[in-house]
Amino acid sequence: MLNRFQFARLRSFRRAAHLQEQVTRRQTVGARVVCVASGKGGTGKSVVATNLALHRARMGERVLLVDFDAGLANAHLLLALAPAHDLGHVLEGRVSAREALVEGPSGLRLLSGGVGRQTLIDPTRRELDRLFKALRPLEEDFDLILIDHGAGVGYSTVAHLAATSTLLLVTNHEVTALSDGYAVYKRATAVNPTIRVGLVVNRVPDQRLAEAAWDRFRGAAVRFLGHHPEYVGWIPADPAVPQSVQRREPVLQSFPDSSAAQALRRVAAWAPIDHARTASAFYERARRALR
Ligand SMILES: Nc1ncnc2c1ncn2[C@@H]1O[C@H](COP(=O)(O)OP(=O)(O)O)[C@@H](O)[C@H]1O
Ligand SMILES: [Mg+2]
Repeated sequence: MLNRFQFARLRSFRRAAHLQEQVTRRQTVGARVVCVASGKGGTGKSVVATNLALHRARMGERVLLVDFDAGLANAHLLLALAPAHDLGHVLEGRVSAREALVEGPSGLRLLSGGVGRQTLIDPTRRELDRLFKALRPLEEDFDLILIDHGAGVGYSTVAHLAATSTLLLVTNHEVTALSDGYAVYKRATAVNPTIRVGLVVNRVPDQRLAEAAWDRFRGAAVRFLGHHPEYVGWIPADPAVPQSVQRREPVLQSFPDSSAAQALRRVAAWAPIDHARTASAFYERARRALR
């Protein structure tokens, strides 16, 4: 028999264990979510997102790539997939989100954006809410969800940025791309003051130019917004990338030893991707951001 003292200790021990379990569950249940966005189009978001997805899938994670570049979806082309369904079908309720997934290399899954779908280009708040609700079950199935956005700060991108813990902002070193990237950064930190933003400077001739671009970006962010973005790294302009696009394969697959592939692996190892978790379900947060 336990005496009163032992009994009380056991009870508080059980309670502590229960609390610990709740905390662990909250931290381990549900996917981490990383958004990939840019100010300007063509900076390399989809190249970064597809290669990142592949790298993480190869490391054994259950990875979902959501192509949210409504109307200009092309992740399926970069992966040589021909999805029968896309986000538009999910929005229309024709299939469930799980039914719309297709399997890509190393077991990664893609939820395609669908090309030229008007509802996705300009969704109403109600439509987006319905879509986020439909996507919510996917959070239980994956370790990592990567969302490949369209350029700029459209309504649906902003809802995602308000909900995510982590954003990869892809730019190149040109002043126009940096300035547009800064506009996305400004919007992201306005709707989500605790967001963690990592800058990827893509398609750069050399490291010096990449670092000059980073200095310029960070300087403006700190001076005008009082925010501190992080430098994920730079990816060289490398003919292996367009060649891999031509082959419809991620460059990690086609030219694993190319300098772009090496740089992309470093980007994929950015530590905050391992911690990109929010306190509550991502798609619930995104729905709340719509209100
Ligand atoms: N590091 C790079 N070196 C050379 N070409 C690149 C690089 N990154 C991207 N590209 C080229 O730019 C094109 C656009 O990239 P993409 O990822 O589709 O841009 P986004 O998704 O931002 O619109 C790709 O088809 C590819 O040929
Ligand atoms: Mg793209």
